Amino acid sequence: MLSLPLLLLAALFLGADSKDQGVTQDPISFHLIQISIFANSSWAQNQGSGWLDELQIHGWDTKSETAIFLKPWSKGNFSEAEITELEELFRVYLLGFIREVQDHAHKFHLEYPFEIQGIAGCELHYGGAIHSFLRGGIGGLDFLSFQNGSCQPAPEGGTSAQQVCEVIEKYHGICDTTRKLLLETCPRFLLGILMAGKAELQRQVKPEAWLSPGPPPGPGRLLLVCHISGFHPKPVWAMWMQGHSSSVSWVIWTVLLPSLLCLMGFAFWVFRRWAYQKIP
Ligand SMILES: *[C@@H]1O[C@H](CO)[C@@H](O)[C@H](O)[C@H]1NC(C)=O
Ligand SMILES: *[C@@H]1O[C@H](CO)[C@@H](O)[C@H](O)[C@H]1NC(C)=O
Ligand SMILES: *[C@@H]1O[C@H](CO)[C@@H](O)[C@H](O)[C@H]1NC(C)=O
Repeated sequence: MLSLPLLLLAALFLGADSKDQGVTQDPISFHLIQISIFANSSWAQNQGSGWLDELQIHGWDTKSETAIFLKPWSKGNFSEAEITELEELFRVYLLGFIREVQDHAHKFHLEYPFEIQGIAGCELHYGGAIHSFLRGGIGGLDFLSFQNGSCQPAPEGGTSAQQVCEVIEKYHGICDTTRKLLLETCPRFLLGILMAGKAELQRQVKPEAWLSPGPPPGPGRLLLVCHISGFHPKPVWAMWMQGHSSSVSWVIWTVLLPSLLCLMGFAFWVFRRWAYQKIP
């Protein structure tokens, strides 16, 4: 049922020589993140962003209420008309979201100040299957999710989450649009993005690594911090060396995109052993 290009794309991004490196075939996802802050009954703000795994490719300008495209390929293969239509949809949604939450805050026992977080998108799995997801949380706790096209209250959300899902289910238009965005638009967009950004996404950049002293963990102890950054793709091996031989047992495999990585515990352990050996 899966088309050949889809399988090839999945193999290209998820499969390629991953077995040799012991890397798990993690799915690759495109998702939008919404953070809505409600300071009091009259002040609220939305923050929006779009991500390809840990790489941010979209922002949202709250003042002009327009999307910011952070990469030349952030629009994938969508036409300007379709992008404009989506922007308009998100503009209406974000405005409506604040209004609805403010109107119902009391009914759903939400006490100011509070923050609502949402994540929605789709992920391409090894083999070519694409799964969509949508989850919402309040103050860092799960609140609801969309499963199989319908609203599911999270246990942590209590009766409020059940009530919100009941209200959402009544708006058939909203549910249909959400379903379409998650199940049709998102997979199409994800594949378009992967094709459009292929050159950048498949480039290989060596990591830069450096050491710095960290905050002392206690009297007579020193903390050594190892930083690794700027590399692509995300899997990287870090190894502690003593003299010319590697201390083989301290091989650390980690997954982080161009961002700081601190291997403080290990560094501290190694440094302390080294320090004990040197100081009589
Ligand atoms: C609401 O919150 C905003 C932002 O924190 C603040 O500037 C404003 O004075 C607050 N308004 C009221 C009525 O408390
Ligand atoms: C999802 O919905 C379809 C059709 O409505 C149904 O056949 C399927 O069992 C559902 N799956 C789950 C996990 O609920
Ligand atoms: C973009 O690429 C995807 C994947 O190849 C394809 O399914 C879709 O039809 C293309 N065009 C648009 C406008 O989505």
